[in-house]
Amino acid sequence: MLDFDSDITTPAPAPQMRNGLNEHGTGRVNVTDKRIINGQTDVNQLVPFKYKWAWEKYLAQCANHWMPQEVNMQRDIEQWKTGQLTEDEMRLVKRNLGFFVTADSLAANNIVLGTYRQITAPECRQFLLRQAFDEAIHTHAYQYIVESLGLDEGEVFNAYHEIKSIRDKDEFLIPFIDVLTDPEFKTGTPEADQKLLKSLIVFACIMEGLFFYVGFVQILALGRQNKMTGAAEQYQYIMRDESMHCNFGIDLINTVKLENPGLWTEEFKAEVTNLFKHAVELEYAYAEDTMPRGVLGLNANMFKEYLRFIANRRMQQIGLDPLFPGVTNPFPWMSEMIDLKKEKNFFETRVTEYQTGGALSWD
Ligand SMILES: [Fe+2]
Ligand SMILES: [Fe+2]
Repeated sequence: MLDFDSDITTPAPAPQMRNGLNEHGTGRVNVTDKRIINGQTDVNQLVPFKYKWAWEKYLAQCANHWMPQEVNMQRDIEQWKTGQLTEDEMRLVKRNLGFFVTADSLAANNIVLGTYRQITAPECRQFLLRQAFDEAIHTHAYQYIVESLGLDEGEVFNAYHEIKSIRDKDEFLIPFIDVLTDPEFKTGTPEADQKLLKSLIVFACIMEGLFFYVGFVQILALGRQNKMTGAAEQYQYIMRDESMHCNFGIDLINTVKLENPGLWTEEFKAEVTNLFKHAVELEYAYAEDTMPRGVLGLNANMFKEYLRFIANRRMQQIGLDPLFPGVTNPFPWMSEMIDLKKEKNFFETRVTEYQTGGALSWD
């Protein structure tokens, strides 16, 4: 992780290329010339590496590979169809999926049609390619749960239009995706670079880093009570991926800041801080809507504290002052959930070891 408390010096400007040749008179990539945005080096030459954190995260994500159909959903189906869940629990599952079934398509569009084009460091692009595939797997996983439980597909997949608390979250996000997917959009001016940076922050820190967390807690809390353990297992894999995506995004944001210190103005920081504030309110409204009466020993108030805790953390990770000093984590078990190795045999369902990288060690 980069340290932003230290003085930031103005970096050397990106070299200008002429006739495909760099300042050294060659098309070969010089590592010091690479830039995350507005770089002039050949994006097809992956090496020499400059951003090793990106390459390492790419390798880690490949080792985390999994597929939804490897998770046994039989017990979930039985529980769902034989009335073993309360009305409130069923509402929670449906509203939860109602957000997630489309969220990862939005995420994939943002990467493939937006962010990817603007990133000029090939090792970061390599991670984004893997991330795009992860998002496809996540959409697949949510669809697989919907199909397994025999839910009304039209209802669940349309929830982002029909359910206000979900629509409000997406309406907050979509402008930050649209700005990048506009074919005319191009970085290279301070205004455009700030738009990109803002979009990166909204996507990594607010969407993947905050808007997913009420939903993750809910399904994992069900799993901890031995309910919907197949779905919970899928969510645990997804959460591990999202945690990596979020961390990659934070490194990306911090490196863009370091390479372009002029973008991080007081006005910009204030604007981003307001976005966090608004996002916490939207996510809290979603928590209330999915749990109107409190369910699974969880209630919306606990989520208020949790969301403030996460928002603080995300803000600190990108060098902003936390909005809610003094809050603590009401769900300490969530941090252990992100590290699957600590949760051996937690669920009754058996995890198939897919990857050869040895990142998973469940029996
Ligand atoms: Fe995802
Ligand atoms: Fe993601």
